[in-house]
Amino acid sequence: MEIIAETFNNPAANGRTAERARLGAIAVVGLGYWGPNWVRNLHQIGCAERVVACDLDAERRDRIAHLYPNTGVTSHFDRVLADPEVEGVIIATPVGTHYEMARRALEADKSVLVEKPLATSPAEAAELVALARERERVLMVGHTFEYSAPVLKLRDIIASGELGEIFYASSTRANLGLLQHDVNVAWDLAVHDISIILMALGQMPERVSCHGESHYRRGIEDVALLTLHFPRGVIAFIHVSWLDPNKIRRTTVVGSRKMLVYDDTAPQEKIRIYDKRVDVQRYYDTFGDFQYSYRYGDIQIPRIEETEPLRLECEHFVDCIKTGAIPRTDGLSGLRVVSVLHAASASLREGGRLTQVEVPRVSLR
Ligand SMILES: NC(=O)c1ccc[n+]([C@@H]2O[C@H](COP(=O)([O-])OP(=O)(O)OC[C@H]3O[C@@H](n4cnc5c(N)ncnc54)[C@H](O)[C@@H]3O)[C@@H](O)[C@H]2O)c1
Repeated sequence: MEIIAETFNNPAANGRTAERARLGAIAVVGLGYWGPNWVRNLHQIGCAERVVACDLDAERRDRIAHLYPNTGVTSHFDRVLADPEVEGVIIATPVGTHYEMARRALEADKSVLVEKPLATSPAEAAELVALARERERVLMVGHTFEYSAPVLKLRDIIASGELGEIFYASSTRANLGLLQHDVNVAWDLAVHDISIILMALGQMPERVSCHGESHYRRGIEDVALLTLHFPRGVIAFIHVSWLDPNKIRRTTVVGSRKMLVYDDTAPQEKIRIYDKRVDVQRYYDTFGDFQYSYRYGDIQIPRIEETEPLRLECEHFVDCIKTGAIPRTDGLSGLRVVSVLHAASASLREGGRLTQVEVPRVSLR
């Protein structure tokens, strides 16, 4: 069993532990669906003297310039990299561009936050981790749900042992759309559930299988089911779909003592803990038989204070740049999730064959 733990000292901390009030400048690259949320949060936090926004598309740049008039906009990524005041670059471009843009930003000695998933292969992700170490820069990945209060609560409840021994987790993330052009539904949506489940269980799956089908774009699956096999028989099912009439964001965790349901679409009371379980008693009249009793106890709803996860993620990135601390969702965390997705893709190509998850070693050049 591999316990997920930080294995690196953070060289980025060298000589940079004293916290500064504000960064010189921070840049967001990619102003499509998701990037403007980063720009908004950066302005709300007021963490940098300047915010720079970059996109190839003129209309998208104009919209940001209109909404946030004191944002510097550019179509040239090179200009972002050449700007000596830019200390952090947030990459919110299509997945296929992540590796190349992150590599160039790290080589320009910028700290980098890459939206999920970190890269399109474990080899690329490992290279980014190594490069960030060499350059002594922060590398963080946008696993947004790891900054969400209900998800952190779920993790803490599992860690406290309240649910007992964990048997399985089951997650559904479905909606009508948004169909993507460059990655399949697993790389777009299951990436969230994988990051949540890995963090919550604190373990890596050993093997993965994945089934899926593409109905609209050849080779880009729009519905998929992943099965993650963890040590000691713990199993996780992840169902993702862009073709569902309902928006579903639900994770169930079943333990030997209690069961938990996390529903991210619920306006409040996102987590419910069910005091339900199966008890097994030896039935002595017929030795060797078992008798089951079913417990139907109370439902507990923990109080959860929520803040926009992206804001917390944004603040964390800025803090890590200022102090050199290792991000909670660092490059290694991105590498682990990409390794699971990579194994799932291999399984999918082979009709759902059970496939070993291999996380490449990070080697410095
Ligand atoms: N963390 C989350 O919850 C979350 C949610 C949605 C999307 N995302 C991630 O955000 C990223 C972007 O997704 P999206 O839905 O906003 O995509 P999108 O296609 O709507 O936007 C991407 C933008 O990047 C721009 N772009 C592409 N190449 C560029 C380049 N070389 N230089 C400058 N701009 C360039 C495009 O013009 C476009 O405006 C993806 O990695 C996605 O997985 C994360």
